[in-house]
Amino acid sequence: MTRLVIRHGTVLDQQGERRADVAIADGRIVGVGTDLPAEDDDRVLDAAGSHVTPGFVDLHVHLREPGREEAETIETGSRAAALGGFTAVVAMPNTEPPQDSLPTIEFVRAQARRAGLCHVAPAGCITLGRAGEQLAPLGELAAAGVHLFTDDGNGVQDPGLMRRALEYARPLGITLAQHCEVASLTRGAVMHEGSCCSHLGLPGWPAIAEELMVHRDIELSRLTGAPVHFLHLSTARSVALVRAAKAEGLPVTAEATPHHFTLTDESLRTYDATFKVNPPLRTPADIAAIKDGLADGTIDAIATDHAPHPPESKEAPLDQAPPGMLGLQTALSLALTELDMPLADVVAALSWKPAAIARLDDRHGRPVAVGEPANLTVFDATAEWTVVPARLASKSRNTPYAGRTVRGAVRHTVYEGDPVVVDGVAQR
Ligand code: DOR
Repeated sequence: MTRLVIRHGTVLDQQGERRADVAIADGRIVGVGTDLPAEDDDRVLDAAGSHVTPGFVDLHVHLREPGREEAETIETGSRAAALGGFTAVVAMPNTEPPQDSLPTIEFVRAQARRAGLCHVAPAGCITLGRAGEQLAPLGELAAAGVHLFTDDGNGVQDPGLMRRALEYARPLGITLAQHCEVASLTRGAVMHEGSCCSHLGLPGWPAIAEELMVHRDIELSRLTGAPVHFLHLSTARSVALVRAAKAEGLPVTAEATPHHFTLTDESLRTYDATFKVNPPLRTPADIAAIKDGLADGTIDAIATDHAPHPPESKEAPLDQAPPGMLGLQTALSLALTELDMPLADVVAALSWKPAAIARLDDRHGRPVAVGEPANLTVFDATAEWTVVPARLASKSRNTPYAGRTVRGAVRHTVYEGDPVVVDGVAQR
């Protein structure tokens, strides 16, 4: 059988960094070392000057299928993921219909298998229709292998319902992921509530709308003993609350998006809805706190909240345009360009730490070692490139980084032993 051999790279995983070639056959790693004998029909991927790491795992993507295929499909979103170095993504359930029943979950899985570009783990809804009134069939979906549940796009407003969901979550062995937003504090809001928003005369989304729910769910996690994962943290106080909860040993985890550590509310001065996102872009002090949270491990994972929207909806006035921005193909580069963290910690936040939260760590975010499934990313940490929206694989174009030059580029992505991205080009 033809082997795939990644030659001349530096392997970087949870066991450290070392020079090694990696040989792959039949979906698994069959050799790691500097002295791997060449075989005549080896297919070689060059990794000189690059790192070979466990594949990246994104805890937070919107793939829009079923229901909003004009914005993205599972195939186009999976291609963007593979090009961004991701071998697994968690698909948010705010589809149409929402992912609150087994047929919809199975549909998403089938479409992902058909695309064959990365693993797509559909998240289930916490409440039916994400309406916040009745619980979704958590047990049935858990039995079918769904591990992460969220009403993302909405927070679960009712504390009694959230408590009930957490009481079920613990014996079911599932994790609830919260979009922290007290809706009564954010009605009509288009951007962060602060001096910039007052100046522009736009309705504001106050930091406390997030922080109250972070606080509430830390307390509900304490009460029930069930894990809570906090989606897209955006404020300094949220980071401080999670840091204190972790110091107490509570089972909470958190993620932050690249846009929340790279862009501020000042971007909205252009009135360009590309910069409208939920939770909103905040202040330099919040960015500093998110970076500190990533550096000290309070924030476990970098997740993109990849949220494609077609141009016609993003061209609407700010108050009518939907929130969200693309993220899959720029995440690694923004992390490498903007974060002052050791490379191993950046890769941890993109790979094995999110893999563990999503319980995908039986196949993703594994050490680069013989016998392990071959889900790998090869990237050049020094290569510079400029973001050109039209060159992104997503069906939508709503990146806030158009024209920005960033450092760090994915060269190859290997998914289940298959080189789905080679030299920065998707193979299907
Ligand atoms: O900006 C956002 N866009 N935040 C969300 O929570 C939902 C997402 C979307 O679905 O577009």
